[in-house]
Amino acid sequence: MSSSQSGTMKLSDYTPSAFSISDLYLEFDLQDKETRVTAVSQIRKLDNSCTDLDLDGKQLTLKAVWVNGIETTVTHTEQGIRLTDVPDQFELKIETLIDPVNNHALEGLYKSGGAFCTQCEAQGFRRITYFLDRPDVMAKYRVKLIADKQANPYLLANGNLIDKGEAEQGRHWALWEDPFPKPCYLFALVAGDFDKLDDTFTTCSGKQVKLQLFVDKGNVSRGRHALDSLKKAMAWDEQKYGLEYDLDIYMVVAVDFFNMGAMENKGLNIFNSKYVLADAASATDQDYFNIESVIAHEYFHNWTGNRITCRDWFQLSLKEGLTVFRDQQFSADMASAAIVRINQVKIMREHQFAEDSGPMAHPIRPSEVMEMNNFYSVTVYDKGAEVIRMLHTLLGESGFRRGMDCYIERHDGQAVTCDDFVQAMEDANQKDLSLFRRWYSQSGTPVISVNCQWHQSQQQLRLELTQNTAPTADQSIKQPLHIPVGIEIVTLSGGEPKISEVLSLTEQKQTYVFENIPSPSTVAVLTGFSAPAKLNYQPAEAELMAVILHASDAVTRWDASQQLISEAIFKFSQRDNEKELPESLKRLFQGLLGQAHTEPALIAEMLELPSFETLSQQQEKIDLDALLKARKQLKALLAVNFAEHWRALFEKLSNSAYSYEQTQVERRRLSGVCLSYLACLDSDESLELLQQAYEKSDNMTDTLAVLKACQAENLPLFDSLMQDFEQKWHDDSLVMDKWFALHAGRQHPQSLSNLQLLMAHSRYSINNPNRVRSVMGTFAFYNTEGFHRRDGSGYKFLTDYLLELDSVNPQVAARLITPMIQYAKLDEHRQHQIRLQLLRLFEHKTLSRDLYEKVQKAL
Ligand code: ARG
Ligand code: ZN
Repeated sequence: MSSSQSGTMKLSDYTPSAFSISDLYLEFDLQDKETRVTAVSQIRKLDNSCTDLDLDGKQLTLKAVWVNGIETTVTHTEQGIRLTDVPDQFELKIETLIDPVNNHALEGLYKSGGAFCTQCEAQGFRRITYFLDRPDVMAKYRVKLIADKQANPYLLANGNLIDKGEAEQGRHWALWEDPFPKPCYLFALVAGDFDKLDDTFTTCSGKQVKLQLFVDKGNVSRGRHALDSLKKAMAWDEQKYGLEYDLDIYMVVAVDFFNMGAMENKGLNIFNSKYVLADAASATDQDYFNIESVIAHEYFHNWTGNRITCRDWFQLSLKEGLTVFRDQQFSADMASAAIVRINQVKIMREHQFAEDSGPMAHPIRPSEVMEMNNFYSVTVYDKGAEVIRMLHTLLGESGFRRGMDCYIERHDGQAVTCDDFVQAMEDANQKDLSLFRRWYSQSGTPVISVNCQWHQSQQQLRLELTQNTAPTADQSIKQPLHIPVGIEIVTLSGGEPKISEVLSLTEQKQTYVFENIPSPSTVAVLTGFSAPAKLNYQPAEAELMAVILHASDAVTRWDASQQLISEAIFKFSQRDNEKELPESLKRLFQGLLGQAHTEPALIAEMLELPSFETLSQQQEKIDLDALLKARKQLKALLAVNFAEHWRALFEKLSNSAYSYEQTQVERRRLSGVCLSYLACLDSDESLELLQQAYEKSDNMTDTLAVLKACQAENLPLFDSLMQDFEQKWHDDSLVMDKWFALHAGRQHPQSLSNLQLLMAHSRYSINNPNRVRSVMGTFAFYNTEGFHRRDGSGYKFLTDYLLELDSVNPQVAARLITPMIQYAKLDEHRQHQIRLQLLRLFEHKTLSRDLYEKVQKAL
């Protein structure tokens, strides 16, 4: 691939590599500040017209290069080094020095706490040695690690351990071999001292796989859930997709310093400890859920990602969209499918829709990239998963499986494209997906406008659907998409008929007629969030009510209730000092509270107000202050109106001793919602109740529910509970992240000086991404009042911080800027304040490529 002057890479510029590397031997002499890396590659020229070999490399100290054993000189290039006039086939040996201790970008080889570890996706391997750092170059690896034995009793790399031994001066070594050819982004090593949990898994063909989980010393008791989750994921993938694990050993290492969630390195996953460690006292139900889903995600990559990988990074969604879809299916099978789905829909509406309408809009298969790390996005991951889900909807469960079987059989061992995937789906099902492919190349969120009429005389329901995608920052012209539109016809009385089906919307406008509908009916559209689209549809209150009461699908009922509440909030935001709860909401809440015991988690979701972010996405422009205020007013009215109900329901929901088990999880979820309303009641009684709930709690879920409720309402009780909490947990960094986040999210006139205090806290460190996210991430993403202060001081605060963080860890800095570049819906005044800060960044001379790409697009 060539890079143009601006440093932008284009999908259309892809060319296959002129060289292949069949085998790679790597030797690491691990030292804190000076690790010596020796790389020996077996290289073959594929394109005879090519005389030079260009290798990628970054922040390396080159010691020497040998071609077929003869020392050679090289030229340094912008990307790395160039070897001129290389033979058709040769052995290349390169020696480099790297500095793991001072690597705070956490890409390549770095130290997390006391341990050496690596992160090579997407382009971290070039920080380890000069190499063809691209996913379509696949080699077999042999890796020798040499390190001090006392500090690093464990020496780990991909594949199988084939030899080990002692070395001089208290050092020892280990030799690993991975029999599966892989791209360099899947390479990993770990050296350090850990506690280890062992287990085994017997695969469907009877192979015994050793499972090993490595955690910080003293954390063994917190590793059980991750290991159990791994075994569930392994069994599920066999049963659901016929995919079996392929090595004799599967290792997972938890580290504290990690830029993202986790990494699927072949046979040696490296995880952010947040997605591994859990026990009742320190982890919430949400943490347990996340661990199960991330463990599964990385495991599922073994087939969708590792055995079949991406041809180039524009194809990232090939493995990420598909693997997210697979982990979503898994989660739905492990817990309540409807609740899992509701939470995915929220992510799409809160974050992906915002990305799609902002300056970083891109298709799930981007066509232009400046910094690849910026494209590990909600669009590539979550919208990518929605696109796979639509294929699943269009082809059906067994058709999708046929397509998967074809894909795996055809491409095992290859580096392929998104198009290859769709082709396999198409061929296995003899279905024309040519129009569907547009989802891969078109960005933006389609809006489906709905016109629905029931005609009494003809006993007919006519449904007219129109699709439109507005231009996005990256693409001005949009075309109609192939959209599966789930619908459910519901009679206003709740009687028959009930009709559910999926319509295939392929034109800009289509009309559907349903016959034999004798009684007044309405239709719910886009049921189950059947496509990543927005709706332009305002059913009458009575129609929404009918859907809430009578629709067969839980997600559809939830969606309708959220719409009813949203409309009330929007109405409130247009009037001043609304004091009356609308009749429709009275009836809705009365009804929901009445049936709370039947489906506690679903009712909890329905009782909760749509988030500020979700509300914003439903409007062209927002009056931020009015919207926040309206949401608060409505919440307070609901709290007061149903005060007795919240209290009574809360009392009924208490659990026995904690276990992460579905019925308990659902009860805790609902009891947390009750608390959030009770905290709005300014009464001694409710304060007492919150205090007691805190004292009584034997688990982190209930404890955090109390703290969140107090925080959201800014109760003085919050401070005293938080002090107690800090005293209990000050030595536990994962729990302290929750404490930091609670403080950083608090809407408070002094929120900026609060942030300063947090960053001066002894447990805070700018070098640790989890800490940074819990303080600055929470502030920028969720402390809406504080971040969007009218005087612009919130924006300035974030910008000052980004200037500092960018020189430490550009990847994390570029994530934190997200809320500041999505400003188009805000008022002119705030937009101006934001642009001032973006200009400051833009003019900064040493801004990273990560931030530069975003800032430049936002201006
Ligand atoms: N492939 C990993 C996952 O989805 C994410 C790694 C991304 N790393 C990065 N530096 N962008 O689990
Ligand atoms: Zn992934």
